[in-house]
Amino acid sequence: MTTAERTAPPDALTVPASRAPGCPFDPAPAVTEAARSEPVTRATLWDGSSCWLVTRHQDVRAVLGDPRFSADAHRTGFPFLTAGGREIIGTNPTFLRMDDPEHARLRRMLTADFIVKKVEAMRPEVQRLADDLIDRMTTGRTSADLVTDFALPLPSLVICLLLGVPYEDHAFFQERSRVLLTLRSTPEEVRGAQDELLEYLARLARTKREQPDDGIISRLVARGELDDTQIATMGRLLLVAGHETTANMTALSTLVLLRNPEQLARLRAEPALVKGAVEELLRYLTIVHNGVPRIATEDVVIGDRTIRAGEGVLCMISSANRDAEVFPDGDALDVARDARRHVAFGFGVHQCLGQPLARVELQIAVETLLRRLPDLRLAVPHEEIPFRGDMAIYGVHSLPIAW
Ligand code: HEM
Repeated sequence: MTTAERTAPPDALTVPASRAPGCPFDPAPAVTEAARSEPVTRATLWDGSSCWLVTRHQDVRAVLGDPRFSADAHRTGFPFLTAGGREIIGTNPTFLRMDDPEHARLRRMLTADFIVKKVEAMRPEVQRLADDLIDRMTTGRTSADLVTDFALPLPSLVICLLLGVPYEDHAFFQERSRVLLTLRSTPEEVRGAQDELLEYLARLARTKREQPDDGIISRLVARGELDDTQIATMGRLLLVAGHETTANMTALSTLVLLRNPEQLARLRAEPALVKGAVEELLRYLTIVHNGVPRIATEDVVIGDRTIRAGEGVLCMISSANRDAEVFPDGDALDVARDARRHVAFGFGVHQCLGQPLARVELQIAVETLLRRLPDLRLAVPHEEIPFRGDMAIYGVHSLPIAW
């Protein structure tokens, strides 16, 4: 028996773990149970390999803040959540799965576009887009699918504007994103979707060389440091992360507020709570629900366990965000809670680049929906709502609403 095997007890649970029917907003019961009884535990992945599962707030921050844990998915033993994820990592990795200094070099090319000041200046434009979408959704109708008519188009329009991607192509990139984020997509499907997206964005970069605009892709072209494939790779990360995440947070937030009428009433009565409520919704819902992967490059003690060099770790930000040590009564949604210590955007050097933008979009989406649709309600029984347990980003596939 090797030292690593002595350190690691037998695997207790399988990830991605299933949620309990009837509790669609809570982390999977097996993860919650692990967080209570054995906060650093072993888990089995879809391919039969093992990794560590880290479930407590302080341990998740310890791993994500420690440079001895790598995000480089090329390292042997990296814990992939899907076969498709493993398939595409060899080709065109994004800086999300790189370590410093290369990660920092590439990320720095984008930081100016996502700083709070820059994004706050976009508020009037985002508000106008939100109002236009609600106008279009409600004209001559009393019901709609919130996902297709509001939650998905809003961040898609915004990220298209920022990147300089034509919004007319949204059906194309939304469909490819869906394939990339579906846990059960085959490696061939994932490779096909990734290649099509990269070809599309590389073509766009070539066009911008001739006809520049003031979008991010044009600016990356003008820097002259990246070739078209590298620009396309960065564009793909932003395009996918930029619309799927906020879209799902918007729809799921609407649903959880409708399911918690006293919280909804409080938010309607005190719109000044919206900013804080968005943080609470990010905490409570934690849509990056299957864990944030890392691999140890040295032996590191986390909690009462030694994680050996070469062992994979999944940081369960969903259970960390329910940790009672940090969020008393964390399984309750409380729109007036101070939830700012949540780790829904991750932690450490890879902490979400788009978080200022996500915040502005979510604050505007929630405030506008509540203000413009005072009679907002579900159009189907709750039991009929299709949850995205099958996707890397949690949410709902559709949300039939009426007003
Ligand atoms: C990274 C969550 C919105 C772009 C991350 C990470 C999380 C996350 C957990 C860290 C992953 C890791 O450490 O491995 C979210 C959530 C969002 C959101 C919950 C919305 C509710 C956005 C938006 C954009 C974006 C709107 C872009 C426009 C990125 C990028 C990274 C990232 C580029 C990689 C950062 C790096 O590796 O340095 N996000 N995100 N995200 N996110 Fe977001």
